[in-house]
Amino acid sequence: MSGPRVLPTREGYDRWAATYDTMGNWLLALEEPEVERGLGDVAGLDLLDVGTGTGRHAIALAARGAHVTAVDFSDEMLAKARAKPGAERVRWIAHDVLTPLPFAAASFDRVLSGLVIEHIPVAALAGFFAELGRVARPGGRIVVTAMHPAMFVKGVSANFHDESGEVRPRSYVATLSDYVMGATSAGLGITGLVERTVDADLVERYERARKFLDWPALFVMELRPPR
Ligand SMILES: C[S@@+](CC[C@H](N)C(=O)[O-])C[C@H]1O[C@@H](n2cnc3c(N)ncnc32)[C@H](O)[C@@H]1O
Repeated sequence: MSGPRVLPTREGYDRWAATYDTMGNWLLALEEPEVERGLGDVAGLDLLDVGTGTGRHAIALAARGAHVTAVDFSDEMLAKARAKPGAERVRWIAHDVLTPLPFAAASFDRVLSGLVIEHIPVAALAGFFAELGRVARPGGRIVVTAMHPAMFVKGVSANFHDESGEVRPRSYVATLSDYVMGATSAGLGITGLVERTVDADLVERYERARKFLDWPALFVMELRPPR
């Protein structure tokens, strides 16, 4: 039996776009309340969603009154996002976040990046975090979530299935210290770190999560911009 097919990250997500929202991804369910709690009340705030994908967070946050800008480099993921009800409230921008963000410094009160950093090479993490910090306003909040590095120990990274079998948009193995040092070396302050394990409640809702019961699956970083 052959192993998963690894594709360049952008191509992988272009292919995943068709099923991303409907595959019953339990990690998204574990992550959503953490993002909501980390961002707090967003009504009236300028918010940037970095690596928005199909706009899962961006559209919900716009519905809660945020002025949302959302970037991603996958045209197919963005096409799914743009086709959703409520998408007209969001400014969508195609952009590779491994290059500088196309925004002036201090443009956003909240910066979110959900389940993207596992696709950022370790050597590029500090630059990525520095850009999040540059575009955030002083006093603002930055929330970054990741598939927990412990999942890589189980041989798992972001994946989906198509007619050829398991497909993986390229991820990069990182440690928690890579993420923490990436943020702090970019001058960001850490206001909170959360590690969420798979619990019985999640397994009840998503049977496929059972094999990860009690295992760390999600890492959340709550950060503040440089002073
Ligand atoms: C797991 S999805 C998460 C999407 C969304 N944030 C969510 O939580 O549902 C990862 C997203 O990051 C995007 N991404 C990965 N590397 C990127 C890069 N260098 N520039 C822009 N987007 C990137 C992918 O295209 C994909 O849409």
